Amino acid sequence: MHLQKLVINGGKKLNGEIRIQGAKNAALPIMAAAVLCGKAGEKVTLRNCPRISDVYAAMRILTYLGCKASFEDGTAVIIPENVSRPEISDELMREMRSSIFFLGAILGRTGRCRITLPGGCDLGPRPIDMHISALRKMGVTIKEEYGALDCRAEKGLTGAKISLSFPSVGTTENIMMAAALAEGTTVIGNAAREPEVADLAEFLNRCGAKINGAGGGKIVINGVKELHGCDYEIMPDRIACATYLACTASAGGELAVTGCRPWDVESILPVFEQMGCSVYTLDDKIFFSANRPLKAVNPIRTMVYPGFPTDAQAPVMASLCKARGTSVFVENIFESRYKHVAGLTRMGADILVEGKVAVIEGVNRLYGVKTEAPDLRGGAGLVAAALAADGTSEITNIQYIDRGYEEIEKVLSSLGADIKRV
Ligand code: EPU
Repeated sequence: MHLQKLVINGGKKLNGEIRIQGAKNAALPIMAAAVLCGKAGEKVTLRNCPRISDVYAAMRILTYLGCKASFEDGTAVIIPENVSRPEISDELMREMRSSIFFLGAILGRTGRCRITLPGGCDLGPRPIDMHISALRKMGVTIKEEYGALDCRAEKGLTGAKISLSFPSVGTTENIMMAAALAEGTTVIGNAAREPEVADLAEFLNRCGAKINGAGGGKIVINGVKELHGCDYEIMPDRIACATYLACTASAGGELAVTGCRPWDVESILPVFEQMGCSVYTLDDKIFFSANRPLKAVNPIRTMVYPGFPTDAQAPVMASLCKARGTSVFVENIFESRYKHVAGLTRMGADILVEGKVAVIEGVNRLYGVKTEAPDLRGGAGLVAAALAADGTSEITNIQYIDRGYEEIEKVLSSLGADIKRV
């Protein structure tokens, strides 16, 4: 499977309409949260779940824990009545970094959890210190031994007032999950305001939780005794939406995106407008046209929501490689998130990276090359650039891309791109 690659003949314009997939970063924590819905005989049905490898990994974790889980046609059905094994194996933890999201859910349900530390470091150090100190405040005893975390709250979790030094998405979500069934009230200060946090809260509330303020900086969770199941539709993926817009900006052409939430990408659309693209939004649709030539844009600083998302940095950078003039990115969220620059440079892009800053000098041409996806969004960036390159590109290591994009080659071929998986 790891030997698959994408072969892309650049130079074809994109034209057509796509429906955006469900959001990876909402689906994963919501699947973890399903563990909390332990009321006898209940089930959780999740619609619009993206068919991506991270979702399959989450299904394997649920099964390992003792839940029943199945996934068909974009609908996941989880029966969490039985959580007999409150631990995640090292193998499963390694498969998916975001398995850390299961910690709050498993602890909330069983008062115990043993996990190994999420391995690797694609994006630079991704510490979990904030997750750990928040859970300790809620009465969890955490011992670190031989690369594993042994977490226990023998008397159950208790509500706490937790202020975050940085509005971490995963920490906010983990606390919400741990607090949903805790004794008393939890207040999260400086909470992450990402739409995926609000989607998780909405899901939990539909299961009977009492969470207020998610989507804002202060979230209040009143613990309840138990949660039931529900039927829930996962929000659309704002980063996949931004990625396909970036692909169209890069290749040229016209794209209609349906089933999206334009307000979730409000910080990204003006960047495309500055490039000279036309953007028109109506309800759940974005009509997008990539006019030529593209122009360089004002410095883009990645920020927490509602700022420009770090996850869109690589695809948007790819579309700026051939823009007229100089563009600048400042990456403020992750330490090492410019790994796609090496591949873009091999294609002929003129990019200089110094610490958090990347300077892109627009060039007239990009050339097809053999290169590898360095991570999920970086891989998507290389695809966007290859669509605009002269000649053939081969992108390997596409298991990274498959973690977050549902059949990227099918979506792009449907728009007229010459791309295939071999
Ligand atoms: N951080 C700490 N300590 C912690 C937790 C986070 O120092 O205990 C730091 C991180 O190292 C990082 C920053 O805080 O520098 C932001 O991390 P955050 O916790 O907000 O991110 P995350 O929850 O690990 C989620 C998404 C990422 C996305 C970020 C930022 C999921 C599954 N992942 O990660 O998505 O980039 O928020 O928006 O929701 C992706 O989809 O490609 C992806 C990496």
